[in-house]
Amino acid sequence: MKVLLVGGGGREHAIAEAIIRSKRVDKLYCAPGNAGIAKIAECADIGVMEFDRLIAFAKEKEIDLTVCSQDDPLCAGIADAFEAAGLRIFGTRKNAAIIEGSKAFSKELMKKYHIPTARYEIFTDPEKAIAYLEENNSFPIVLKADGLALGKGVLICQNLEEAKAGVREIMEDKKFGAAGNEMVIEEFMTGREVSALAFVDGRHYRLMSSSQDHKRAGDGDTGLNTGGMGTFSPSPFFTKEIEEICDRTIFQPTVDAMAAEGRAFTGVLYFGLMLTKDGPKVVEYNTRFGDPETQVVLPRMETDIIDVFEACMDGTLDTIDLSFADNAAVCVVLASGGYPVAYEKGKVISGLDAFDDRDDIFLFHAGTKFNDRGEVVTSGGRVLGVTALAPTLKEARAKAYEAAKEITFEGVYMRHDIGKAIDQA
Ligand code: AMP
Ligand code: GLY
Repeated sequence: MKVLLVGGGGREHAIAEAIIRSKRVDKLYCAPGNAGIAKIAECADIGVMEFDRLIAFAKEKEIDLTVCSQDDPLCAGIADAFEAAGLRIFGTRKNAAIIEGSKAFSKELMKKYHIPTARYEIFTDPEKAIAYLEENNSFPIVLKADGLALGKGVLICQNLEEAKAGVREIMEDKKFGAAGNEMVIEEFMTGREVSALAFVDGRHYRLMSSSQDHKRAGDGDTGLNTGGMGTFSPSPFFTKEIEEICDRTIFQPTVDAMAAEGRAFTGVLYFGLMLTKDGPKVVEYNTRFGDPETQVVLPRMETDIIDVFEACMDGTLDTIDLSFADNAAVCVVLASGGYPVAYEKGKVISGLDAFDDRDDIFLFHAGTKFNDRGEVVTSGGRVLGVTALAPTLKEARAKAYEAAKEITFEGVYMRHDIGKAIDQA
């Protein structure tokens, strides 16, 4: 088979690794890819939103299957565009991708189908939102821009002043653009967070091994929210018992709800969960693999990913036995100094070949590219994800931090407590 992967981040590098492990794949292309993906795939300089060029490329190269797992193109209808052109694509259609594309939609869906989540109200008028906040005296409170905002459209406000300023930022200053035309105000939940990713074929789902992200920039969960500074898998807090509760109250009900709404979901459905004292609740849905969750989940997957993708598209996922290695993985993200605010790009990265002969350490490139001299340089805030596999989470963590020391670039920074939570398990 010839496969085209759309995207160019750390998640896509991990998906690319899983695709080339498939016995069924002869050739992998990636658009646009990055300097790491270029080692295992032929990269084409086409942007993820350039649907016409991507379709023309897929036709020209006689691609058998295209894979897309990024929110912007999925919510804009990349899957529909490929299908309309008669091409096979693994990716959620626009009418189902709305589960991530609109928080107002996902909250209404959960309310209608009694899926546990934080209590909330939806607003389109900033004055009404502020009036609501003035009456409501329970803080912290959570403000969410309705639309896609690069994972940054959520504000946790400690008091009325902060919350009022937040409403103005989202709805009036449009800090997150049109994503802020509508806004959700919801109850603040406490508990441990778990990322549960599932393959879905419209009716059935198969759960991948669990993981946990670390969203805040600084050690001890301090600082600003980021796209994710590191992950571990599996989550020891996501027990078999909790999984059974989630199956009954969240996972299957969500798949059924989307089908009942005429929005049958195919693709990867990401359940962002909070394990509260009142049971597991949904924090958010995403219509794709998580980043950097994928970097710890897919290296542990044993089932051929192409078989799983096809079963999702064909509605035969119930025949798939999804299996994961009985080991653990930790991913530490190396970021550019100053991320997520302001940072410099173009720093030469050294040590990238240090683990070429290892099958237990992966350097997933996120923001890298080649400069004019052919050197690999930084090109984004999150630069690399260093993933280590080991029999236990503790060993994987030690190995990932040991490996991370080998990679250097000016201003490199990482969190030092990725996976520390496992000490409490
Ligand atoms: P999201 O972009 O929806 O993933 O939200 C980013 C982060 O904000 C989540 O991973 C949580 O840590 C936090 N968050 C979102 N909603 C809530 C909530 N209702 N209560 C507490 N924390 C939340
Ligand atoms: N790691 C969180 C996300 O992918 O949205």
